[in-house]
Amino acid sequence: MLHLGVNIDHVATLRQARYAQMPDSINAEPLILEAARECEAAGAHSITVHLRADRRHIVDTDVFLLKKELSVQLNLEMGNTPEIVEIALRVRPDFVCLVPENRQEITTEGGLDVTAHAAALKETTSRLKTNVTRVSYFVDPVLEDIHACADCGADMVELHTGTFANSFGKEREAEVQRLCAAAELAHSLGLQVNAGHGLTTQNVRDLFAVPYLAELNIGHHLVSRAITIGLRESVREMLVVMGGYGG
Ligand code: PXP
Repeated sequence: MLHLGVNIDHVATLRQARYAQMPDSINAEPLILEAARECEAAGAHSITVHLRADRRHIVDTDVFLLKKELSVQLNLEMGNTPEIVEIALRVRPDFVCLVPENRQEITTEGGLDVTAHAAALKETTSRLKTNVTRVSYFVDPVLEDIHACADCGADMVELHTGTFANSFGKEREAEVQRLCAAAELAHSLGLQVNAGHGLTTQNVRDLFAVPYLAELNIGHHLVSRAITIGLRESVREMLVVMGGYGG
């Protein structure tokens, strides 16, 4: 069964639009934990939050609270920086997804350059795994990068579906082929295969051609749909579509 990880960063984006100076105040809404519980009630398998260096949406207290209160697994998305790694070691999320992070970007723009940062990634991966956190790398569907993930000790890859989501027709078909090849290779190397970025109920069926998918991480679309149909219904709607994945 294909699992759904719901990224609730944009619930925090809304809170920070008003309460950036006091995200922990009793007036600060929407509540991150309440949003996470709606996702859980709808059947989400994990909750993802990205603790960015600039704390533009999720803040440290959100991560500790979610880890303490969630029934489902917590996936902490993070850049490989000493400050955030120390926090991850204290939080002990169920899994971590290492991503490249650049202060100017609006959202994570590309996958990790695993080869260029292999030594640092290897060290962080080993520290997190010793601390009982499984480790995923967010990567473009590039075969050299998939090999590098296995060499660095990653447990999982999250294939970047941004190009897939933003392409149509022949271009999308070509991107699906790249994702298929990356998934085949990752699976053959013993890596769990996840995917995410830009996925919607409209485009996700086109991704079903990709084999071995274990979990999709989806945020913006689900939180956007929540404005009109509510978060619980938005997550349910996606889970119904994802039920069509054959593996
Ligand atoms: N996976 C990763 C690694 C991401 O950085 C993001 C965006 O925060 C997502 C998945 C979710 O992307 P989207 O919000 O477009 O669904």
